[in-house]
Amino acid sequence: MTRSLLRFPLFYKILVANAVLVALVTVASVATASVAAARENTSIAMLLGAAVIISIIVNALILRLALIPLKRLEETAARVQEGDLSARVPESDLADRDIERLATMFNMMLDSAEAYRSRLRDVAVRALTAQEEERRRIAQELHDGIAQTLAALRVRLRVARAAEGETRQDALESISTDIGAATEEIRRIAQGLRPPALDMLGLSPAIESYARSVAEANGLRIDTDIVATDGMLSPDAELALYRIVQEALSNVARHSGARSARVDLDVANGTVQTVISDTGRGFAVAAEMARGGLGLFGMQERGAYLGGTVEIESTPGGGTRVRVTIPTVETARHV
Ligand SMILES: Nc1ncnc2c1ncn2[C@@H]1O[C@H](COP(=O)(O)OP(=O)(O)OP(=O)(O)O)[C@@H](O)[C@H]1O
Ligand SMILES: [Mg+2]
Repeated sequence: MTRSLLRFPLFYKILVANAVLVALVTVASVATASVAAARENTSIAMLLGAAVIISIIVNALILRLALIPLKRLEETAARVQEGDLSARVPESDLADRDIERLATMFNMMLDSAEAYRSRLRDVAVRALTAQEEERRRIAQELHDGIAQTLAALRVRLRVARAAEGETRQDALESISTDIGAATEEIRRIAQGLRPPALDMLGLSPAIESYARSVAEANGLRIDTDIVATDGMLSPDAELALYRIVQEALSNVARHSGARSARVDLDVANGTVQTVISDTGRGFAVAAEMARGGLGLFGMQERGAYLGGTVEIESTPGGGTRVRVTIPTVETARHV
């Protein structure tokens, strides 16, 4: 009973409370008036009855007016729930300071939700474009490379079959060498699709080897201190961490201007912690994130997807540090 009374809309609660108050005052007045002037009882009662009704109506109108801002808030929330993310609570001269603050916060939340959504859309479009590009490249490599080589080998095999003696032997030898080259070519294409080092060597050596290749390719010095993590992360988490390190190191090489960088990977408190740091020019993280850098955003999304975090600290002129924390399989199981 109390519960269902409490669930009444705020408007009716206030209205009923006011009505009860008015009624009590009226009853008290009637009682006083009837004692004072017994003969005029009837007309006083009628007058007071009319006063009660008028005051309830005035009360209702004022309340309706006062609660308009809340109503607008509710309507906006309903529109958002129906999928209209562009809906915002309109400004209202009737709003008190609390409601105004509530509306402003609500609008700010909607702004950031919309910005987040549009970035996700950018990432999705970019991922799809990259995927198409990758397919086109692979198709071309298969067509121009492997398919041509195999076609040529077939012709040479036919020629070799018709030949005899040493000529035949030499032709077969050369064909065998070219088959070896074609196999190598296929391996190279496969390597472009998924980092083979990850499967062949495991996460830690794969990261070390990648850091070495970035260092060599860019004339950088990259020191590593990386512990073994065998079995601590799921294959998905390993791949994601590898990609995060790739992005962070590619940023170091492309943007930092640093001569040296570090990759440290350690296991602590049920998490795998990886820090990629450089001594380069640094940058304003919040400004770059707001500008919509998809590399940084992608790193953070990957980290969050794994139940971990990616913290990016950077000061202009003071270098950059990307700290990736990912729970181990064991920790993730207990959460
Ligand atoms: N280690 C770094 N040192 C200096 N500036 C950096 C570093 N990492 C990122 N930045 C700055 O932050 C910006 C955003 O980085 P982000 O990785 O999101 O995008 P990007 O590298 O420009 O493009 P991509 O989408 O190809 O990664 C960079 O353009 C660069 O100005
Ligand atoms: Mg980048």
